[in-house]
Amino acid sequence: MDLGGELDINFDNASGPFPNNLVVRPIGRVAGAELPGLDLRSPLTEETIDFILKALAKYHVLSFPDQDLTKDQQVLFTKQFGELEGHVALDHNGKPFPAVHIVSNLDPDGQPTAKPRSHGNYFWHSDKSYHATPSLATILYAKEIPPNGGATQFANMQMAYDELYPEMKQMIDGLEVVHHWAQSRRNSCNAPATPEQEKESPPVTHPIVRIHPETNRKSIYLGIHASHIAGMNWHEGREIIYRLTDMVTQPRFVYTHEWKTNELVMWDNRSLMHRATGDFAQDLHPRVLHRTVLRGAKPLSP
Ligand code: OGA
Ligand code: MN
Repeated sequence: MDLGGELDINFDNASGPFPNNLVVRPIGRVAGAELPGLDLRSPLTEETIDFILKALAKYHVLSFPDQDLTKDQQVLFTKQFGELEGHVALDHNGKPFPAVHIVSNLDPDGQPTAKPRSHGNYFWHSDKSYHATPSLATILYAKEIPPNGGATQFANMQMAYDELYPEMKQMIDGLEVVHHWAQSRRNSCNAPATPEQEKESPPVTHPIVRIHPETNRKSIYLGIHASHIAGMNWHEGREIIYRLTDMVTQPRFVYTHEWKTNELVMWDNRSLMHRATGDFAQDLHPRVLHRTVLRGAKPLSP
């Protein structure tokens, strides 16, 4: 993986030596590395935190296998990297989400169901791009994973940007995209946004090409929350969004993560789009993950 940036850790130097005996095993060509041997219940040293953030900037998806975390411990783990982000929307009972949000296919009686409450996660997206300051990283801790399937896919938006043909890069240069929760609901064929949600999440504008603050690499910033291109005919803008989304999510830019129970995964929303595949017997097997999110900053333009 070509980093092209300025991290002061040379991950390409085989197995280190890295601080605190950390081990990093790259998973694939597109994204992903496994960091085995850590117990995330214990506080991390500053050096380890810094190392993990750099590994995140390089590999985009980090897997910490064999963890044993309560929700409170996951919150403490998350807060070591920055500010814990609450969830905007209210849940289906009209209550705010707690710090740890549960991603699952369980119905209110705790039974697996193939009827999701929302279809949003099945579309390519970057978490909370409809916020002025979208999420930096998302952390999912796998409590229950079906015997087959239920993977999450990650598309590397830096790699995809680099591979765009020059005329396309030129055409999108400087464009701004309006992201809007209410339009996201329409894009994903979900129930319309409620008036409260409309009020909480007005449209925001982000550059279509953003810069990663750690590596200065450019990436495409789109996803299901994208509504249209600022200052352009609505339909023409949507055409560009669809066409570009097809290009940047080709299989050659995608890493498919097959989950293991007790694994914690942290991904970088600044350089990836992701989606749930839903490809498992949803009415038979529970899939339960505990989710915390790190607040990010305003996406940077080149
Ligand atoms: C999320 C998400 C995908 C999945 O939690 O933000 O998109 O596979 N999850 O559950
Ligand atoms: Mn998501």
